[in-house]
Amino acid sequence: MKDIITLGIESSCDETSVAVVRNGREVLSNVINTQIAIHTQFGGVVPEIASRKHIENISDVTKEALKQANITFSDVDVIACTYGPGLVGALLVGVSYAKALSYAINKPLVGTNHIKGHIAANYITNLKLEPPFICLIISGGHTHLVHIKDYQNFEILGKTRDDAIGEAFDKVARVIGLGYPGGPKVDKLAKEGIANITLPKTRFENLDFSFSGIKTAVINLHHKDPNINKADLCASFEKTVTEELLDNTIEAAKKLNITKIALAGGVSANSYIRKSFDKLTEQGYEVYYPELKLCTDNAAMIAGAGYYEFINGKTSDLSLNAVPNLKLE
Ligand code: KG4
Ligand code: ZN
Repeated sequence: MKDIITLGIESSCDETSVAVVRNGREVLSNVINTQIAIHTQFGGVVPEIASRKHIENISDVTKEALKQANITFSDVDVIACTYGPGLVGALLVGVSYAKALSYAINKPLVGTNHIKGHIAANYITNLKLEPPFICLIISGGHTHLVHIKDYQNFEILGKTRDDAIGEAFDKVARVIGLGYPGGPKVDKLAKEGIANITLPKTRFENLDFSFSGIKTAVINLHHKDPNINKADLCASFEKTVTEELLDNTIEAAKKLNITKIALAGGVSANSYIRKSFDKLTEQGYEVYYPELKLCTDNAAMIAGAGYYEFINGKTSDLSLNAVPNLKLE
């Protein structure tokens, strides 16, 4: 079969990224221009600034992705761009650019769901991974437990009822003065602490999650005692949220009689979460993660997800629009 080269474009939040991926799983280039340094001054992503920076960067990032992959536009078979979920202004930059490019170079376009991209990051790192499996998507915007029935068929088993887990990490970090983005900073500091503080853990009858309670509890503890040991607080926070993730994931796996579990999204880069899920292998589970660079937002994962849509006959026309609250199912 002829190789299919996908040009992936991602601009849903604060990363402008363009990638070239062969047959959905082999990364030829994955250029990521992150705006973290700019948004850090404001303690979080400023949507208007994000859009402007995407506009400034997208063309150069695309050229660099082609150069690193050693190809030209004529080698591209399909363009995959994130059209949701995400910040509307940020998404529109990638979508408009992808549409213009598709028209100019006369190549098909596939609008791609960002969450499906996070899932597809696992296919790139774990070449043997095939559906069915359970995927726990934990990022700054999402917390979803999903049954991946096949490459195109997903069922949401549970999701957060309030904050995404990454939001909780970022908020905790901000309140205790660690800065933005908080996840990696909490990860680092927690290693120096002991999980000796009891925090509330949520458990619903179904497989939903909730992180606003624990977030508020951490904030209140810090306000009551600003000298509280921050490392212990981070370690306790990580331990409690990880237990919630594990409880629901194991319950889902047992219910569906599935032993393959994959994690995805920015928070799946967390070292304590990985160490804890790794222990599931002792109980007979197979556990998969994307490599660290593919956990957070990047265009290789979008090219990967777009490829599976494309080979299943899905393409988009030039009426494609950004859908900020795009759903997975
Ligand atoms: O997947 P992502 O890049 O963007 C969204 O689609 O939301 O995820 C970003 C989130 C942020 O909340 C960030 O703090 C978190 O992932 N994150 C981490 C770690 N690295 C990134 N959270 C915990 N531990 C980490 N090592
Ligand atoms: Zn993301």
